[in-house]
Amino acid sequence: MLWRPVFVFLLAQLVSATPLARRWNDFAEKHAWVEIPDGWEVHSEAPSDYTFDLRIGLKQSKMDELIENLMEISDPAHARYGQHLSKEDAEDFVRPRPESSEAVEAWLGAHGVVEDDVTHRTDGGDWVTVRVSVAQAERMLGTKYNVFHHPKSGEKVVRTMSYSLPRELHSHVDVVAPTTYFGTMRSMRATSFLQPEIKPVEDVVLSNDATVPSSCTNTITPACLRALYNTVNYVPAAASKNGLGIAGYLDEFANRADLQTFFKRFRPDAVGSNFTTIQVNGGGDDQNDPGVEANLDIQYATGISFPTPNTYWSTGGSPPFIPDSLTPTNTNEPYLDWLNFVLSQTSIPPVITTSYGDNEQTVPNDYAVSVCNLLAQLGSRGVTVFFSSGDFGVGGGDCRTNDGTNKVLFQPAFPASCPFVTTVGGTTRVNPEIAVSFSGGGFSRYFATPSYQTTAVTNYINFLGNTFNGLYNKTGRAYPDVSAQGNGFQVVIGGTTSSVGGTSASSPTVAGVFALLNDFRLSQGKSTLGFVNPLLYSTASTGFNDITAGANAGCGTSGFSARAGWDPVTGLGTPDFLKLQQLV
Ligand SMILES: *[C@@H]1O[C@H](CO)[C@@H](O)[C@H](O)[C@H]1NC(C)=O
Ligand SMILES: *[C@@H]1O[C@H](CO)[C@@H](O)[C@H](O)[C@H]1NC(C)=O
Repeated sequence: MLWRPVFVFLLAQLVSATPLARRWNDFAEKHAWVEIPDGWEVHSEAPSDYTFDLRIGLKQSKMDELIENLMEISDPAHARYGQHLSKEDAEDFVRPRPESSEAVEAWLGAHGVVEDDVTHRTDGGDWVTVRVSVAQAERMLGTKYNVFHHPKSGEKVVRTMSYSLPRELHSHVDVVAPTTYFGTMRSMRATSFLQPEIKPVEDVVLSNDATVPSSCTNTITPACLRALYNTVNYVPAAASKNGLGIAGYLDEFANRADLQTFFKRFRPDAVGSNFTTIQVNGGGDDQNDPGVEANLDIQYATGISFPTPNTYWSTGGSPPFIPDSLTPTNTNEPYLDWLNFVLSQTSIPPVITTSYGDNEQTVPNDYAVSVCNLLAQLGSRGVTVFFSSGDFGVGGGDCRTNDGTNKVLFQPAFPASCPFVTTVGGTTRVNPEIAVSFSGGGFSRYFATPSYQTTAVTNYINFLGNTFNGLYNKTGRAYPDVSAQGNGFQVVIGGTTSSVGGTSASSPTVAGVFALLNDFRLSQGKSTLGFVNPLLYSTASTGFNDITAGANAGCGTSGFSARAGWDPVTGLGTPDFLKLQQLV
C-alpha cells in the first residue's frame, strides 16, 4: 500500500486554511444506539485534546471467497479438506481493494493524519490504527465523544452514542473503533458460580482405569473429565508440533505456582510442566494476583491436554481512564487487539479457547461482523476456536431489547453466536450427564443459520412447534455446538482449592480434548482439525455423548430443553475421545 507522506504533509498544511472538501463532510450514519448501553452513564465530555488510537477496519476485498475456502477446507467430504491457508494466503483474501486504501488515505490526510500518526497496520492492510485527538475523531466521524462510566465495575471509557462516515467511505470501511461498542467482555464465570457450598476435594483423585470416580457427581477434577471423555489411556505422541492457546482478558493472570499445586493434587504426572504467558497490548502478568478465570482456564486446559504446550495470552485493554491525563492509553478494544496480534503470527496454536463474551445486542452489528470475520480468518489458518456459551441460559436479567421497543426476547451471546467458532455449553452430574441449568444457548439475531447445522437445527425447531414463538430467531445461527461439564470444578487459587462453575470451565475442557485429537492426527502425519463445525455436524456427530435431560431457564421461562440429537442447551453433546479418534 502506498502512503504518500509528502502529499499528505502538504494536505495537512492546507487543512488549517482550507475548509474540508465537500466529499468528507457528506456524512451518512454508520451506527447509533437509541439509549445509553445498560449499566453505563455519561460521566463528562471527552477532552478535545485527549488522544487515542482509532482502528479503521477497511472492507476486505474477498471475504466471501475466504469463507468459501474455509467451508471447503473444513468439509471432510471435500478434496481440499485440511489444506489450511498460510498467513500470506489468508491475507490475500482480506487485503482491501486499492481504491479502498486510497479513499481512506485521502480522508485521513484531509484531517491532518500523517504517516507518523499510524501506530499499527496489519500485514493484510485491512486494519489501520491511527493516533488522533478527540477533536480530530469527532470531525472525521461527525460525532461527539463522551467519557462514560460503568459504576458496577468502576470502568471509564471514551465512547460515542453514534458515528457516521462520509457517504463515499461506506463502501470502503466496515467499522471504526472505539465508537459505539462499550463492551465489558464479561468473563463467562459469573461470581454466583464461585461455589462455596460445594466442599472442595483436597485429595488426588486419580483413576488408573477408565472408570468415573464417584466424587464426580459433585466435584470435577481432571480425573473425572479424562474418564468421562475417554482420554485417560491416550498417550500423546506429537506434543512438539502441537499447541493449545488460552485468550485471557480483564487483568486475569494465570498463576504458575498454583498450577504446580494443582498438578500435585490432581495431575501428578504433569508436575514440573509449564505454560508460556504472552502479554498482548500491555496485558499484565502479576504472579501475586491469581485470577479465578485465568487459573480455571489454564489448570483445565493443561490438565486435559498435558503434555501439549499451552500458551496464555494476557491481553490488556481495561485501562483506568483518567479524564484529565492527556497520555494516550489503550482504548479497551480487547477483541481487536488480541485478534490482530494473533493473526500477525506465522504459527498459531491449532486450538484456542476463550471464556469471555457479551450479550449480542450490546455489540454493534458492524463490530460483531468484523470480529466474526477475523475469527473466520483464524479458522482458515487451521485453528479450532472455542468459546463458552454463557452462564445465563436463554438470557439473564430482564431480557429486554435495547432498540427502544423494550420487548422481552431471549438474549443470545457474542462471540458464541458467530458461525465460525465452536461454542461450548455446560453439563453436570454423571451416569447420565444432564444439561446444567445455566448453560447458555439460543439463536443469533445477527448471523444466519450456517448450512452445516441446518438439518440439526430444523429438527429441533420442528420439535418446538409454537413453543417460544417470537422469543427466538428461527433463522439465526444456533448454539452451543457441543458441551462439557460446567459445575464444581476444583481450581487452585492462591494455594487453596475452590469450587468454580460456569461454561468457562466447559470450554477449556473441550479444547483440551480437541488438542489431543490434533495430537493424534499430527502423529499420523495429517493436518490439524481447523474449523470443526462442518465435521462435527456430519461425520463426527456420533462421537458425542448425547445429553437428553435438563434445560436452560432464563427470561422468565423454563428455557430450551435438552433432547435426543442436537439441542440449544448442550449442542451435539459431550465429547467421547475414543469415538472421535475413529471419526477424525
Ligand atoms: C515456568 O516458566 C516460568 C517463566 O517462563 C519460570 O519462571 C518458571 O520457573 C517455570 N516453572 C516451572 C515449574 O518450570
Ligand atoms: C434473524 O436472523 C437473521 C439472520 O439470519 C437476521 O437477518 C434477522 O434480522 C433476525 N431476525 C430477528 C427477528 O432478529
